[in-house]
Amino acid sequence: MGNFLAGKVVAVTGAGRGIGRAVALAAAAEGAKVVVNDYGVAVDGASPTSEVAEAVVKEIGAAGGDAVAVADDISTMAGGQRMVDAALSSYGRLDGVVCVAGILRERMLFNMTEEEWDPVVATHLKGTFTVFRAASAVMRKQRAGTLIGFTSGNHQGSVSQANYSAAKGGIISLVRSAALGLHKYGVTANAVAPVARTRMSAGVPTELAEIGEPEDVAAFVVYLLSDGARDAGITGQVYTVAGPKIAVWAQPRELRAAYASEGPWTPERIAEVLPGSVGVDPMPMLAQLAAMEVAARAGERPNA
Ligand SMILES: NC(=O)c1ccc[n+]([C@@H]2O[C@H](COP(=O)([O-])OP(=O)(O)OC[C@H]3O[C@@H](n4cnc5c(N)ncnc54)[C@H](O)[C@@H]3O)[C@@H](O)[C@H]2O)c1
Repeated sequence: MGNFLAGKVVAVTGAGRGIGRAVALAAAAEGAKVVVNDYGVAVDGASPTSEVAEAVVKEIGAAGGDAVAVADDISTMAGGQRMVDAALSSYGRLDGVVCVAGILRERMLFNMTEEEWDPVVATHLKGTFTVFRAASAVMRKQRAGTLIGFTSGNHQGSVSQANYSAAKGGIISLVRSAALGLHKYGVTANAVAPVARTRMSAGVPTELAEIGEPEDVAAFVVYLLSDGARDAGITGQVYTVAGPKIAVWAQPRELRAAYASEGPWTPERIAEVLPGSVGVDPMPMLAQLAAMEVAARAGERPNA
């Protein structure tokens, strides 16, 4: 066991499987006391069981670490609050939260139902809010803490996962809002976009050029939870972790502007000015989609 997180208390949602489990095990191995949350559901969010969270707590205990299980649904306010309360009642403080829990319900936008939209947005976006809300109230008083959300490269858009993509984009804005609102209290907030072999990524129909293991993501999250990341001033950032690759995403910013010079804009004047001066910022995902369609027509398994 290392001591990168010695003395810290960390709560992880979706910690029963995949990346969340790897984060919980790695944090415990680095000396943190861990709250292991998992609702124990199928990839689509159905059939909850408490055994999944309890199994990881046993694993941490067997390795000499300290953990408690919370098998709640974090898409509820009570679930998020109970996870934070478990940290306080078991260990007396809360230094970091990592919101990894997620589900998928894929459907083309024109066929997507409310039952496919609501639970996906609730698990990812609201499930990050419920935990950030409860944890930030504690961290504000402590004047220290780390909030970590999980997003995806698919926040750029997704053909058949508008629900998931919208939630992941929302998580980035939530993280940036937390970073801004809590900066003066010494609390940081960052997002991780992982690419790792889990049951969730197993269903991706493309050959992923850059993919790694949950443990690669866990090592990065341990660093973000450490004092070193706080001292380096890391907040409001989005990082990709895919096997050997780590990358930082740009902050959104205006690319080009034009100003009305002869009175207010009219549709005619916009038609004259916009294409040549402001223009567009081409979507990389659209180009990737076109390449995938060509590969699919040629009978190959497309690359992404
Ligand atoms: N695996 C990848 O390549 C990849 C890529 C991009 C983003 N992500 C994101 O990383 C995170 C982890 O994904 P994974 O691949 O490890 O998935 P996974 O399916 O292996 O694990 C997700 C866990 O979340 C739990 N969970 C679901 N709903 C919950 C709820 N309401 N309350 C508490 N727990 C709940 C599940 O029971 C499961 O154990 C997700 O947010 C996912 O969107 C993963």
